Amino acid sequence: MTQGKDRVVLAYSGGLDTSVAIGWIGEQTGMEVIAVAVDVGQGGEDLQVIRQRALDCGAVEAYVADAKEEFAADFCMPALKANALYQGAYPLVSAISRPLISKHLVRAARQFGATTVAHGCTGKGNDQVRFEVSITSMAPDLKTIAPVRDLALTRDVAIDYANRHHLPIETTKNNPFSIDQNVWGRAIETGFLEDLWNAPTKDVYNYTDDPTYPPLPDEVVLTFEKGVPVAIDGRPVTPLQAIQEMNRRAGAQGIGRIDIVEDRLVGIKSREVYEAPGAVALIAAHQELERVTIERELARFKRRVDERWGELVYDAQWFSPLKKSLDTFIESTQEYVSGEIRMSLHGGRATVTGRRSDASLYDFNLATYETGDSFDQSHSRGFIEIYGMTSKLATARDVRFGKGLEVGEGAL
Ligand code: ARG
Repeated sequence: MTQGKDRVVLAYSGGLDTSVAIGWIGEQTGMEVIAVAVDVGQGGEDLQVIRQRALDCGAVEAYVADAKEEFAADFCMPALKANALYQGAYPLVSAISRPLISKHLVRAARQFGATTVAHGCTGKGNDQVRFEVSITSMAPDLKTIAPVRDLALTRDVAIDYANRHHLPIETTKNNPFSIDQNVWGRAIETGFLEDLWNAPTKDVYNYTDDPTYPPLPDEVVLTFEKGVPVAIDGRPVTPLQAIQEMNRRAGAQGIGRIDIVEDRLVGIKSREVYEAPGAVALIAAHQELERVTIERELARFKRRVDERWGELVYDAQWFSPLKKSLDTFIESTQEYVSGEIRMSLHGGRATVTGRRSDASLYDFNLATYETGDSFDQSHSRGFIEIYGMTSKLATARDVRFGKGLEVGEGAL
């Protein structure tokens, strides 16, 4: 490639900030800008329209990557296998999209001979860390720049710039929130939500209907193979189709609305509202199938691994050695996570009502209290005798030292 100027690949959303960033980066750094928009199922505007806008705003090249299937298969499915809910609640919607977008940015940087990658994040959030750590993990030679953070591209500056240069972008629309969305869910923050006491208003939500007035219950049967949904009500689905269909059906029942204060990587607590109907319903189903098919000790240990996996992914460590090793562990736990889960979707809840699996560890004859019982209860006496031994010895020692357990006289 023979060009005089340095080139920068910009993660382009089509919104005001990144549209202005194209010209702004050019002015401030002298670099040529290549705009890259990655489709992770965010919906909204047509991506060809977004591509044209980037060119109209001065990008020397603009390119759109359809990454929906890849995102679903390689990023959402690992999150599902890990039952990933950061701090017990957040399905990592934005956290799993950043490493994927970074991959495409790095690829474009190579293709167009860029030395630098740019993104539209502020200096206060997790996403800047996720982009830059992901990029440096894949391509340590690439530089990164964030115009909002590093080149003083504030909102007012952006509006003024867009008006002065007649950029083909709306500057009057006063968007009250910062929103990030993809096929795994939607994240809404800032605006009046910054007051923790303010309840979310109706206009916050887009993927879910109000669970207070639900339609009739919707029964769904999900078929899993090795931890991945492969059919819905008997119809084969790809991971992307599974998520999309569950978004629709669980969304109609108001499932997956989440309103939490979470701990950001940069140390601050922030109010976040999410809606992730498909993710929440799929995780509930997957978790239940694991209860039936994963041996007790493995299941207990996996819960801790799942939690750690979620923290690592939240904390921008998608490409880290620990995260990769945990992936290998989690993958090995999914060998028998195959079978069917029946759920009732209704009024904001996905309730499991049935499960069956050829790989089930549930033994009816061991569990039943009716005829056919094959559990030899006489063995329990001896088992308990030995199992309680250590506590019995410790209590006897307490008594010797005058610290016997107080059980209360009134009870006798
Ligand atoms: N707090 C969430 C996270 O860190 C969501 C971030 C959403 N990003 C945004 N630019 N609105 O994963």
